[in-house]
Amino acid sequence: MGTRNLVSIADLSNDDIEEIFEYADSCDKLRSDKVGSCKIMATLFYEPSTRTRLSFESAMQRLGGTVISCSDMQSSSAAKGESVADTAKVVSSYADVLVVRHYWDGAVQAMAEHADVQVINAGDGGHEHPTQTLCDLYTLRKEKGALKGLNVVICGDLKNGRTIHSLVYALARFGANVVTLAANGMELPQYVLERLEREYQYTLAPVAGDDLSAVVTESDALYLTPKQPHQLALFTQVDSTIQTRLTSMVSGLRYDAFYMTRKQKERIKNGAAGGSYPSIGSKFLTEQRFKDTVVMHPLPRIDELSSEVDKDRRGVYFKQAAYGVPIRMALLHFLFEKQRQHQFIKSGKGAAIFESPHKTGPHCPNSKCIAVNEPGSTRLRYEILAGGPAAALVLRCLYCDHRFKAHLVGQTTSKKYCAYDIALAETVKQWLKKSELAIFDSIKQAEELGYEPYKSGPQRAIMDDREIQSAVRQMSEQILKDCEDPDRLLVLGIRTNGSLIGQRITAQMEQLQKRKFEVGEVEIYGTGDDLRRIFPDEPELGPVSLRDRSIILVDDVIHTGRTVRTALNIIFRSGRPRSVRLAVLIDRGHREIPIKPNYVGKHIPSAEHERVRVHLGEVEPDEKDKVVIYSITSPSES
Ligand code: NCD
Repeated sequence: MGTRNLVSIADLSNDDIEEIFEYADSCDKLRSDKVGSCKIMATLFYEPSTRTRLSFESAMQRLGGTVISCSDMQSSSAAKGESVADTAKVVSSYADVLVVRHYWDGAVQAMAEHADVQVINAGDGGHEHPTQTLCDLYTLRKEKGALKGLNVVICGDLKNGRTIHSLVYALARFGANVVTLAANGMELPQYVLERLEREYQYTLAPVAGDDLSAVVTESDALYLTPKQPHQLALFTQVDSTIQTRLTSMVSGLRYDAFYMTRKQKERIKNGAAGGSYPSIGSKFLTEQRFKDTVVMHPLPRIDELSSEVDKDRRGVYFKQAAYGVPIRMALLHFLFEKQRQHQFIKSGKGAAIFESPHKTGPHCPNSKCIAVNEPGSTRLRYEILAGGPAAALVLRCLYCDHRFKAHLVGQTTSKKYCAYDIALAETVKQWLKKSELAIFDSIKQAEELGYEPYKSGPQRAIMDDREIQSAVRQMSEQILKDCEDPDRLLVLGIRTNGSLIGQRITAQMEQLQKRKFEVGEVEIYGTGDDLRRIFPDEPELGPVSLRDRSIILVDDVIHTGRTVRTALNIIFRSGRPRSVRLAVLIDRGHREIPIKPNYVGKHIPSAEHERVRVHLGEVEPDEKDKVVIYSITSPSES
């Protein structure tokens, strides 16, 4: 039998949310009808809570139900090391619904898989907090009427704030516009942006720096919108007409709501560290353009929201917290009803789900994921995302949503493995369909499971170490020749090979100019800190500032252009450079996206079925640098 849970905001459709709001509007009736009588709710909170737990408990009691609770999970068996899987199983026989808050991303999904009763997510690590989103949307609707078309600023720690993540998905679904105003280094994570783009066609674009950011902070505002008047990420040079259009579009904007959040210091290494954090107070209240902007906050607040706003009609955060009770009464009633009527959601419509056929397999790279911290409570299950950057095989962790690239695939019947390549896309799809697909983290893992390699085709060297060296020199000279202000120059290489070539270009330029240049790297499959400085001598410098920089983005090979596009998304999300120019060692054609590199080491016209690989000494110390080309034959043909 299925169970209707609420783990992610995606578990509720827009109609479901409207239905819950209707119940909330008539919560007095739910109360007098005692719709929850005979039901028991267990609250399992592995992290502190005031509002969420108390409003859930109050809601359940008002529905006529009862509550059992471990007031502090440190006083439960969890302190003795009991897994979330066992806890979920055990408590299922004591209660009809579990309300769970946990410090690991994805822990509530793991609990839901092991519980025999309904499970509600009351916040899982830095991942999601769907019931807070219901309170937020309900508040917005009460204050502003319809959600569609609203302009909502989200501000603060957008990286670690779970309330933010659930909220942006919901706002996107209801057709609201989102302006992000992140504290420095706390931008929306790439996995959230990609989901917004994949599921709701939302893309990010920079907004005038003197607009919103002047009110609160140093950081740049970014505009997330479904009605893309811009395709900024497609351009390697920020086009000034696009920038002007965007700026004028945004400067006339009315802001309906300003959603402030605190710095999630418990989720940040060396919690207190870091520079300035945005805050709002009296200056905000006197600005004409905010005269009808409601100020929201999931609470608790620290210093980012001054108590001056409390007395103002626009400060609605205490109402927002008070709605927690009617909304949670409505939600409990809704979930009980759906369960009674056996109305379950079809999870992940049409999604391609991979589960490892072996005890080991690919591992989620997010160190805060339950799958990493308590593997025994989870399964090696992932969604396979088609058409990731560079046509890679991208897996999405079904617990924490983080994505990563899979490199090695195998077939369970032939027990052969090989490196994944786009030419294998169809074959891999077939293997998945027939449950013959295996995916590995490493060659060691594949071979330990008894898999043998497929033979690869003959390779032809197309560049040797001397040619690579001279290409790097020639690109460096060209970059310096075009460079108007060397102080603004920032070299950013795409990890791994692009980053290594970026470092070589920087070293070459330093030698030519007898001065230092800043160099960093972009990690396109990263799990958070995907833009970092490479400066081994000074690790304490903090995040790289992109504002007004002339960026040279570097990669080894350009093919479809998708990798570059993803790197550009990361760059524009993290700040507003003056320009971005692209340098690649090899351009092999076949672009899907109109991107033209500014600096090219060598053009290599290649056929679609051919592959180009760059081998660099930094990665393979026993080998000389070289570039090779080879044809790919599908393992199923051999
Ligand atoms: C939020 C949470 O726990 O994520 N609080 C809440 O539930 N109202 C926000 C926060 O702790 O900053």
